[in-house]
Amino acid sequence: MNAVIDLRSDTATRPTEGMRRAMAGAEVGDEQRREDPTVTELEERAAALLGHEASVYVPTATMANQIALRALSQPGDEVVAEAGAHVFRSELGGPAVHSGLAMKAIAGERGLFGAADVRDAVNPPDVHMAVTRIVCLENTHNGGGGKAWPLELVRDVSAEARRHGLSVHLDGARLLNATVANGTSAADYGREADTVTLCLSKGLGCPLGALLGGSAELIGRARRLKHLFGGAMRQAGIVAAAGLYALEHHVARLADDHANARRLAEGLADSGLPVDPSEVETNFVLLDAAALGLTVELAAERLRAEGVLLSPAGRRGCLRALTHLDIAAGDVDRAVTAARRALAAI
Ligand SMILES: Cc1ncc(COP(=O)(O)O)c(C=O)c1O
Repeated sequence: MNAVIDLRSDTATRPTEGMRRAMAGAEVGDEQRREDPTVTELEERAAALLGHEASVYVPTATMANQIALRALSQPGDEVVAEAGAHVFRSELGGPAVHSGLAMKAIAGERGLFGAADVRDAVNPPDVHMAVTRIVCLENTHNGGGGKAWPLELVRDVSAEARRHGLSVHLDGARLLNATVANGTSAADYGREADTVTLCLSKGLGCPLGALLGGSAELIGRARRLKHLFGGAMRQAGIVAAAGLYALEHHVARLADDHANARRLAEGLADSGLPVDPSEVETNFVLLDAAALGLTVELAAERLRAEGVLLSPAGRRGCLRALTHLDIAAGDVDRAVTAARRALAAI
């Protein structure tokens, strides 16, 4: 009997042997006191990668996003993001809870929007209206099916935001998937934003951890907020070592995940299943359960019975499959065969 093929998320990875060895050998200290040399090394490395002066290591990308929004605003300000953005849909109303922010959604196209949308979203200087303060971009966009922002579009949006005096936060939880897909650098994107989140526990394969990059001044503020949010740690070098290992060994190989996602999409489409391979840019594949006359729950149940796990996608009526470090081309082929058994006879 084959093992279950878990495509629900790219967070499904287990640390590799090399990563575990790096963790076991890590030099550690008290991270709260900034005495952990491995955390410090990771923060310096990530700051350079993201094109910023400084970065701070936190347990999750959710915390990095929420700290950034708080550091960039005052209670009663407004944050603008695309309607399906993770900060709006999947962080429990965090901007309102943690920072007292009003939230304004832009209806984008697979998570992307343009300078004109920013212009339209900014409130006029009216005494009755919240001050629009932050624009948040997500790259790649989770709800948009792993869509990568073209660098030029980010530059346009960022320039427009700055014309209106807004700050820009980039939720780059999967930023390196975008840069590997389109041959840009993380610093190219990072420089267009005041703060940048990078997650280590998705395609990079770490058990946990994220980084928030920004100016030394902003990251100083973020460090205090990290304490406030309960994210300051002790001998965190043990997991930061996984982050350093991942930045060394797991970035270029994201191209394999993207190739496997294309292989999966083409295999499913060739089996007559409602998948559009032309949508696949990074490691997401969307399967349109509604087009088969199934709810996402029923389609997922049928796939599970054949040993393949998918999860609901941001797009209504769709399931998503994410490729990752623990998925090889052979798993993709087995998943296609299983999906054909589960769904193609419908
Ligand atoms: C775009 C994006 N941002 C942030 C997060 C939050 O990551 P974490 O689960 O590490 O808090 C996710 C998680 O899926 C995500 O997809």
